[in-house]
Amino acid sequence: MTRAAAIAAYRAAFGEDPQFIVNSPGRVNLIGEHVDYCDGCVLPMAIGLGITLACGSRGDRRIEYVASDLGNLRDGFSCAREPERVGDWRDHVRGVAAVYAREQGDLPALSLAIAGNLPAGSGLSSSAALGVGAARALAHAAGQEMSPRQLAQLAQQAERRFVGTQCGIMDQLACAAGVAGHALLIDCRSLDVAPVRLPEEWSLLVVDSGIRRELAQTGFNHRAQQCADAAQRLGKSSLRDVTGEELAANEAQLNAEQYRLARHVVGEIARVREAAEAIGAGDIAAMGRLINASHASLRDDFRVSLPQIDQLVALQQEALAGQGGARMMGGGFGGCTIALCERERAEHLHDAVERFYRGPDGRRPWMHEVAVADGVAVTAE
Ligand code: GLA
Repeated sequence: MTRAAAIAAYRAAFGEDPQFIVNSPGRVNLIGEHVDYCDGCVLPMAIGLGITLACGSRGDRRIEYVASDLGNLRDGFSCAREPERVGDWRDHVRGVAAVYAREQGDLPALSLAIAGNLPAGSGLSSSAALGVGAARALAHAAGQEMSPRQLAQLAQQAERRFVGTQCGIMDQLACAAGVAGHALLIDCRSLDVAPVRLPEEWSLLVVDSGIRRELAQTGFNHRAQQCADAAQRLGKSSLRDVTGEELAANEAQLNAEQYRLARHVVGEIARVREAAEAIGAGDIAAMGRLINASHASLRDDFRVSLPQIDQLVALQQEALAGQGGARMMGGGFGGCTIALCERERAEHLHDAVERFYRGPDGRRPWMHEVAVADGVAVTAE
């Protein structure tokens, strides 16, 4: 669907056919929230929804792009100078071009038409999909091989330096390294990615709460900084190196906020390890307990939930009755929840949400059963 839209937008904007297509997926995260920037482990996966970029080279020294979902809004800049920040979604393309030019040398001249089917701002990482997709397009046009890790790092640097969010690498690496049917156990310190096969009979449901908040407005950078300060006060390079016992024994070294944040991070990293084992054992009840505990910790210790999100999560947990779990997902303060259950329970879960939850606009929420997909890829037109 997005492929056809991207190709049509390309033809309309540039008057010819694109030369290649980049498919860049969004992501969901099963467990491991707010630990990637603390060097922790996470369990995300690429999904069947995402962004398509129709691409072709140009005769001039420019990068020109249009967004078909935004009324074919067009932007462009010269390859000869570093593009400037403009303060909106275009910075994900501009930032990637700027970092690419600094790190890889010359920017290839390129036309791009972008189309997507991720609900904007819903926490399914449309920004990472756009950034990684743009990086893949530039590398392909320049005839350069870049590994999933390099693509993810490039897009993450763009986000940190250009957009200004001090994000970790989870979203970009999930988008770059996804494997269909597998969650990715990512060690955010070594950047090792180990695909973990998901049992066929498991189903993942994302529900959009309908509540929108930009990462920058959620105290994201503040929390990341507090986590780094907490680690430093404990004499460690990151919270990854702190055990639960060490943290409890050194509570007096931290202020109350740092202690709460650190308790979430340390507990969540331990839950991710247990979750990887529970997936291997096909133990959905254990997974449910871990996912539910993750939500409680994000709500009470990390404090990135909202009463409406807690309500949406609670009604899903109730419907699952221990056979699976539900939690808020992503940066927090809005966006989607994620729930895991056995396929045969998915309809019951779906019905419960439809009956009992309404978004801020009073409407039924957007819901989506996740198809776990491969990471970013280039295909010929
Ligand atoms: C956002 C960031 C990620 C990660 C999550 C929380 O999605 O971009 O790096 O920190 O929040 O887990």
